[in-house]
Amino acid sequence: MRIDILTGFPDIVRQPLAQSIIKKGRDKGAVTIHVHNLRDYTDDRHKTIDDYPYGGGPGMVLKVEPFDRCLQDIAGRCDISRARLLMMSPRGATFSQSKAVELSVQEHLILLCGHYKGVDERLYELYPIEDVSIGDYVLSSGEIAALVITDSIVRLLPNVLKDIESAWSDSFHDEWLDAPYYTRPENYRGLKVPDVLTSGHHERIAAWRMKKRRELTEKRRPDLIEKAKNNKI
Ligand code: ADE
Repeated sequence: MRIDILTGFPDIVRQPLAQSIIKKGRDKGAVTIHVHNLRDYTDDRHKTIDDYPYGGGPGMVLKVEPFDRCLQDIAGRCDISRARLLMMSPRGATFSQSKAVELSVQEHLILLCGHYKGVDERLYELYPIEDVSIGDYVLSSGEIAALVITDSIVRLLPNVLKDIESAWSDSFHDEWLDAPYYTRPENYRGLKVPDVLTSGHHERIAAWRMKKRRELTEKRRPDLIEKAKNNKI
């Protein structure tokens, strides 16, 4: 997979993309990630990427040219006709684990970081862009949303996680939240790990985990169970 990230604030994304699971995905060649600084696609002395909105009002709007020029630059190096272009925006459809799975099989993702009030709407007339939101709250920065989306996708790519079963048991892989986990020491300040987990009895452990997943989901996220029921009908 190739991921391009277009941003006016490349420093926000560079370090997180060089750590942990995303680093592993890059090192293993599962994904190549290119970060583009929108200011490199300006031609004024101040490298201006935003401007006042026509019609007035508070806030600044990201200009169309830096995005367009950067996308043209990428298009000059590789075919972007099959790429998915995703604009980080609170007005998009809410990102979810199923969207992460859907995107994880794409060859090329182009993540566009909106900022301030938004982006000149004409960009949407030039390119087939989908807005994506990571939740019903407003961030000052599309960069953080791009990192969330990149992380959730890269960990699903083949050979990135040591144990892909670990992803299958994740919360949101199905309708159940994940079970509680314990690690050493077996006794910490008098708190013992549940006996079943140290029994070595795989079937009993699996049954215990499933019971905990159901209990936790019923208590905290009954909406997930309802949603799964409705989807199955
Ligand atoms: N930019 C600002 N808020 C956002 C959100 N909730 N999701 C994605 N991008 C955003």
